[in-house]
Amino acid sequence: MEDKELIAMAAKAREDAYAPYSGCSVGAAIVTGSGKVYTGCNVENASYGLSMCAERTAAFKAVCDGEREFTAVAVVTDTGWTPCGACRQVLMEFGPGMRVLAANAAGNYHEYRLHELLLDAFGPSDLPSK
Ligand code: THU
Repeated sequence: MEDKELIAMAAKAREDAYAPYSGCSVGAAIVTGSGKVYTGCNVENASYGLSMCAERTAAFKAVCDGEREFTAVAVVTDTGWTPCGACRQVLMEFGPGMRVLAANAAGNYHEYRLHELLLDAFGPSDLPSK
């Protein structure tokens, strides 16, 4: 999957964003180890704290479909935001080395590795049971 293609899928998902409170539409597209792509948008709520980010929407869709490994995520916003801290932590669970493509509305993007965005991350191996 070409980066541009993945970003285009995230941009398409962004069209469904439900963001009447912030006015900030976000789209995400995650590539899994099996090569499938799962998309998501942000979904806000009148009870603001219940709002959900695009990246976690996409991640949870993938996990509910049986996926357990992510290799890349594209995020599209107006100006090219990187994933928020909560999303970084959730994504970390399924692929510390995943590529993170942070794109703006024009399709210009910066590429990161997730572990660069969440240094010395807490993760499954820190738990005593693992
Ligand atoms: N948002 C995302 O969807 N992903 C992020 O990584 C950062 C923030 C959403 C949440 C909220 O709906 C809006 O953007 C403004 O914070």
